[in-house]
Amino acid sequence: MLERNGYLTMMNFHILTLFPEMVMQGLHTSILGRAVEREYISIEAVNIRDYTLDKHGKVDDYTYGGGAGMLMQAQPVYDAWRAVSERITARGAAQGRVIYVTPQGKTFHQKMAQELAGEEDLTFLCGHYEGIDERVLEEIVTDEISIGDYVLTGGELPAMVMIDAIARLVPGVLHNTDSAMTESFCDGLLEYPQYSRPEIWHDKRVPPILLCGDHAKVDAWRLEQSVIRTRERRPDLYEAYCKRIQPL
Ligand code: ADE
Repeated sequence: MLERNGYLTMMNFHILTLFPEMVMQGLHTSILGRAVEREYISIEAVNIRDYTLDKHGKVDDYTYGGGAGMLMQAQPVYDAWRAVSERITARGAAQGRVIYVTPQGKTFHQKMAQELAGEEDLTFLCGHYEGIDERVLEEIVTDEISIGDYVLTGGELPAMVMIDAIARLVPGVLHNTDSAMTESFCDGLLEYPQYSRPEIWHDKRVPPILLCGDHAKVDAWRLEQSVIRTRERRPDLYEAYCKRIQPL
């Protein structure tokens, strides 16, 4: 739970989407499902279609200037956001950041997840079709974020990816706070290889150093493995790591 002004509060995720059942199902399973039950986090999905003023329930239309595909219209998106915003501010909380998930955004990474995990409320706006009318984005969006240089059919999966990465950093969500601290990217290195029982499987033996009981030796071996792995798989991260440990 997050501590603000001496009070414990949970972190609240709000998702503006055309497919609420998709995000609710995906985010209420496993660790996040348990975190919701234990009230470390809350997750609500708001169906943008419920807010359209169109009598046929339409939320999209052709783009001005021509071009293929349809665009989500400003009105239903704006009104869905207003409903969420009013609920947040009625609690006395600040409106908080509104993240539009889009391939045109800044690329998401672990540090961003850490920074966003300190917020009390985060609202995610999921686009579909060819995107969303720019005018409503200008009015409500504080951040535009992409999960990588590829294009998906909608913003739900990217929003779920980001919420998972952020929520697991909220205190209490993971049982063992260690595991959020020691894993890949936490110190700019990829995680070392890990082994469980049995000691020999398919003729492969667990590295003997892991059985020696000397924690300092195990830690040194793990760091070495992390460095080797990072150098082989992510030369960009390795270069940054070398600069950090040996500044010019
Ligand atoms: N919507 C479609 N593709 C996306 C991506 N790569 N990141 C964020 N939102 C998206």
